[in-house]
Amino acid sequence: MSTSNKDLIGREDVNDLEAILAITNSDVDEVMHTVKDNAEAIFTWDYEKGARPGLNKLYEKAKTSQWNGETDLPWDTEVDQEAVVMANAAAAGTGLSQGMDLTGTPFEKWGDKEFVQLGVESQNWTLSQFMHGEQGALLCTAKIVETVPWIDAKYYASTQVMDEARHVEVFAKYLDTKLSGHYPINAHLRMLLDDIVNDSRWDMTYLGMQIMVEGLALAAFGLMHTVTPEPLLKQLLRYVMSDEARHVAFGVLSLQEYYRELSDAEMRERQEFAFEAAVRMRDRFLQQEVWERMGVDPKTAIRAMRSLPQDPEQDLFNQLLFAKIVPNCKKLGLLDAAGGWLRERFTEISVIQFEDWVDTGEEYENLDEVAKDRSA
Ligand SMILES: [Fe+2]
Ligand SMILES: [Fe+2]
Repeated sequence: MSTSNKDLIGREDVNDLEAILAITNSDVDEVMHTVKDNAEAIFTWDYEKGARPGLNKLYEKAKTSQWNGETDLPWDTEVDQEAVVMANAAAAGTGLSQGMDLTGTPFEKWGDKEFVQLGVESQNWTLSQFMHGEQGALLCTAKIVETVPWIDAKYYASTQVMDEARHVEVFAKYLDTKLSGHYPINAHLRMLLDDIVNDSRWDMTYLGMQIMVEGLALAAFGLMHTVTPEPLLKQLLRYVMSDEARHVAFGVLSLQEYYRELSDAEMRERQEFAFEAAVRMRDRFLQQEVWERMGVDPKTAIRAMRSLPQDPEQDLFNQLLFAKIVPNCKKLGLLDAAGGWLRERFTEISVIQFEDWVDTGEEYENLDEVAKDRSA
């Protein structure tokens, strides 16, 4: 049973830039997108609350950590998006062109105006993709309420549905009232969300969403929270992260129990799904739509960026996005099951170095900013 990269991700070479960029969203004006949700809704007549103490504790925690997106955030904050872009560049100590020698690149003739615009578009794009991903989480969690067989998990998942509604709401409001434009969903992200919703096995929703998508979101929000000087966004991310840490813990706790019963062949299917998800998420971070909007051919732009000496830092940033996913996969036994198949793949895409970082099984207690604010 050897599954090739081509079967899994549609190309033999994971880093084939041409093939990655050939996947684009060709229906940017669509307002509705329909995916077949192949699952059975499961009732359980076993109502014993707390049969799974870890999940019960998470549920109780979630009930007291709710916040209100309209009233708990300082929406009256004035946001000057261009000033934020310039402050970010100043904080990095590099200036807008990141201190790079641009001779021979498509940005050779760019001045401050174009680099500010790039920063603005990049932020519009990033937060738009976060918003779309949050809607993916909203749908997936509603699906988990129906499909998971355990009452404690149904209870907990229902609180996550509310959390995700709030996340979609606050990202949409931030985009509408503080930034300067939306982007449609990135095609790589859409493929991934479609695959997760489409899968009939209840544990695959968890693996795709709670472990992979939310694991990456938790790392990405953390990085952005550290970097942004904008107080409203900082607070928004801090609150969203409090919730996300619980969501990832929900995935880890649930799958830990379920994976114990699986055979090597079944584990291998989970590994393949995790790898496919990792590659889709890596692909989306190329931000190809931003280059298009800036009037630069994405392939030329990405190749030029990669040839610049600054690039290793960008690489590190992209790798850090996997800082939560890899230890959580390890905790679930996914790295080393089935002959270590996923360990090899994660080595190939240069993210295996995070395997011994903190996993997210318990981390949510430290990240609960809402409870800390209320007791302060
Ligand atoms: Fe979320
Ligand atoms: Fe979430």
